[in-house]
Amino acid sequence: MASQVTILGVAGSLRKQSYNKGALRAAQGLVPPGAKLEIFDIAGIPGFNQDEEKSPPPKVIELKSRIRAAGAILLCTPEYNYSIPGVLKNAIDWASRPYGDSAWNGKPVAIMGASVGAFGTMRAQYHLRQCFVFLNMEAVLQPEVAIAGAADMFDAEGNLTDAKAKELISQLLKNLVAKAR
Ligand code: FNR
Repeated sequence: MASQVTILGVAGSLRKQSYNKGALRAAQGLVPPGAKLEIFDIAGIPGFNQDEEKSPPPKVIELKSRIRAAGAILLCTPEYNYSIPGVLKNAIDWASRPYGDSAWNGKPVAIMGASVGAFGTMRAQYHLRQCFVFLNMEAVLQPEVAIAGAADMFDAEGNLTDAKAKELISQLLKNLVAKAR
């Protein structure tokens, strides 16, 4: 039997009613058999300071250990000003340091995102893919999951309702788990 794969999901928004947090919750119900998706909330991680990278704050220690315990990573992020939200980039930077001790190294990763705009976070997603080169993370290329016009894709409780988006997330998770195995 294939081994169990734990996916660590991280949302790039701190907002309580975040569409991206909603999409991650939806993904938890769409993981293929033999896998589970745990969510790590990056709220409370202070701004990165290289002076502190060798004695990072407790939340960063926890993030690094959760990344290391996971077989795969799923990032679900909005785009801010056509790029990666600062809170997500900040978490990525913390967990990549100090040099030679990056928790991300070699991890398979998939990206998805929801935005109220028409391009569904694709610009942030491409910027993340650029980071994966230096982080040595193996990114799933297809399908690209970009939930545009998010206000119409979620219900009042922030749950993803769009069938096509759910189908794409299922396929993305299948491909991520296959890569992790
Ligand atoms: C945005 N938003 C946005 N949307 C977009 O499609 N392209 C963009 O470049 C931006 N830029 C941007 C910058 C900042 C600072 C904010 C706060 C918002 C809108 C964004 O898609 C919307 O706020 C989403 O609801 C954010 O995702 P969450 O918080 O719902 O997950």
